Amino acid sequence: SRRISIAIDGPAAAGKSTVAKIAAEKLTYIYIDTGAMYRALTYKALNKGASLDNEAELIEILNNTSIELMPGESGQKVLLDGIEVTNEIRSAEVTNQVSYVAVHELVRKEMVKRQQQFAVDGGVVMDGRDIGTHVLPNAEVKVFLLASVEERAQRRHAENIQKGFPSDLEKLKEEIAARDKIDSERVVAPLKKADDAIEIDTTSLSITDVVDKIMGLALERI
Ligand code: C5P
Repeated sequence: SRRISIAIDGPAAAGKSTVAKIAAEKLTYIYIDTGAMYRALTYKALNKGASLDNEAELIEILNNTSIELMPGESGQKVLLDGIEVTNEIRSAEVTNQVSYVAVHELVRKEMVKRQQQFAVDGGVVMDGRDIGTHVLPNAEVKVFLLASVEERAQRRHAENIQKGFPSDLEKLKEEIAARDKIDSERVVAPLKKADDAIEIDTTSLSITDVVDKIMGLALERI
């Protein structure tokens, strides 16, 4: 059977990575979390004290940065210049700044190039904001995941509490809405459903329901 590409886009905390990871495991495909790449760059730029609105400075950093994504024991492992930063890139600081890094055209151009290289042989499940529209416009399966801000904040809140992290539901709602706004309104490759993507509203669906839908679409095309 052929090894297809599956693009999964949608707003922040819509459950993209959770379902993408499971679908990739079921298909024995590679899973690429493109948000982790923007997060890794943001983490490095913040550590260097770079100005996040200085595109030239960011692209200079990115051109001298290696970002590796690999399967780990609990999900995807992220290496920044060979050093694991899997947890560090999920900090509140990085989460609340990453969208400012992701607006820059040259940053996106380099990220897209790297992402397309990961997908050259097919057999990939990739999640992000512009996968169906820009990174993999010819993906055999395109899915756009949606859920209300309320629902997405509730899920993230429950996840934080389960991990023993401090969590403020109202603040989460504001942060998720703010990130969606920047991601949707940017000029270059904004968050947008591709015309040929299948929209799935996950608000009242379980993880298994969503995975089953994606697997159904994939198996039709393999
Ligand atoms: O997916 P995640 O929430 O980790 O992504 C973090 C941020 O990276 C997004 O809010 C967005 O600003 C940026 N991003 C992007 N394009 C992608 C993936 C992520 O602009 N394909």
